[in-house]
Order: sequence, then C-alpha cells, then structure tokens
Amino acid sequence: MTDAPETVQTNDDNIENIKENKSLRPILTFMRRTSPLSNAQKQGLADCSHLIVKAPIQDARTIFDHPNLPLTIEIGFGMGSTLVQMAKDAPERNFLGIEVHIPGIAQCAYDAGQAGITNLRIMDADALEVLAGIPDGSVDRVQLYFPDPWQKKRHFKRRFVAPERMALIVQKLTQGGWFHAATDWQPYAEWMIDVLEQVTELENIYGKSQFAPRPDWRPKTKFERRGEVAGHGVWDVIYKRV
Ligand SMILES: C[S@@+](CC[C@H](N)C(=O)[O-])C[C@H]1O[C@@H](n2cnc3c(N)ncnc32)[C@H](O)[C@@H]1O
Repeated sequence: MTDAPETVQTNDDNIENIKENKSLRPILTFMRRTSPLSNAQKQGLADCSHLIVKAPIQDARTIFDHPNLPLTIEIGFGMGSTLVQMAKDAPERNFLGIEVHIPGIAQCAYDAGQAGITNLRIMDADALEVLAGIPDGSVDRVQLYFPDPWQKKRHFKRRFVAPERMALIVQKLTQGGWFHAATDWQPYAEWMIDVLEQVTELENIYGKSQFAPRPDWRPKTKFERRGEVAGHGVWDVIYKRV
C-alpha cells in the first residue's frame, strides 16, 4: 500500500473545517445508529444496569469485583456475543466492552446477565475518550474485532487503526500486553500491518508483517459471520507491547 494513513486531526482537516465554517471536532471512528430495542434488550438495560458503567471513569481496573485481575478492553463489541463468551471462558481476567450502539449495549447486558457473568462491564462511550482518561500501563489486552473498514478514501481518517490512535493504545498497555485486531476486509488488514509495523513499541508476535493464525479462543462475531456469507476471508493481527 502506498498511501500514508491520514491523521486523526490534521492541519489540513482543520483548514478544511475553517473554510467550511465547521467547528474543530475530533474525527469519530463510528456513526451512531438507532433501532428499536427488543424486549430482551429492554430487560438487559433494566435488570443488568449493575454491569453498565457510566463515563467518565478514572481507572478501569477499579470497576470490577476483583481489580487485580488482568484487564481486557474490547472496542466496538457490536452485539457483544463474542465478548460475553470470552468473559465466560476466562474467569481469571476482567473484560470491559466499550460501544456506542445502544441495542448492542442492551443485548450484551442481557446476555451477560443470563450467563451470570461477574467479570464483565460495559460502557456506552467513545473508547478513545475512555482510554485517554485511564492510567498508562493499566490494560493487559485491547481487542478490536471487525472494526468499520471505512472503505472510501475520504473516510480513511476514521479507521480506528491509525498512528495516533495506536500511540494511545500503546500508552495504556502493560509491558507484554497485546493489541489484537481482526478484519474481513483485506485492504484494511494490509493497512493494519502497515500502520502497526511502524509503531516501535509494538512487536508482531508471529514475526514482522505476519498475520496471526485465527485463534480458536476468539469466538466468531456477528460481522465475521456476515463477511463469511459474503465470501470474505478473515485476517487477525496480534502485536505485543515491548
Ligand atoms: C463493524 S461493527 C463490528 C461489531 C463487532 N465487533 C462484530 O464483529 O460483530 C464496529 C463497531 O465498532 C463500534 N465503534 C467504532 N468506533 C468506536 C469507538 N471509538 N468507541 C466505541 N465503539 C466504537 C461501532 O459502533 C460498531 O458497532
């Protein structure tokens, strides 16, 4: 890939905004979508509100019953089925899921409640804002599964995997902590490798510029299944903080 990724808020963006008389807002990696809540989702919000944590938070570790367990943060968990399964499979870790899609937050709360999970918390927030507010070196793993690929060139600046956003992730990871991403969009997979190989504090655990074999401990996500139906492949990348 030859094009350098665009930055979160470049001078060019600012100049364009000023020309167009727009305010200087940060570039978001998501679009808020709404849809009516199912009965289960309404129940999830009502009965499992103890699993939903309001922003802002000072330290993500302290929102759990056992704050000393290693912390995994999932950014953009969608409907949350993968996150709930992973939390169930790994009681020796804490899991914080951050999403902005309300039906997904509600569904995740409902499913976690039904499964009786206690090592999972959910936030309705921009993950970048949450990460910016918590202590450096406090997160053991960050996972980003099937992020919006933002396929049009003018939208590349919204891709979550970008140098400035990865600098924030690196800052929050523990030494030896992981950043794990997966996508079904090959150009974004190659983009991820290009961006991540430039981050000096990260090391690809499968070797320079290599994709990871699909881990059997990562349950399939809704978007992964959708990609499969469309005939897409799947690419995982796992980088370690060194
Ligand atoms: C394409 S969906 C994938 C959902 C899920 N991971 C899956 O594989 O089924 C990407 C999700 O990421 C969420 N998202 C994107 N940027 C985010 C951010 N900065 N903070 C929180 N959620 C974000 C979006 O709301 C969307 O639901």
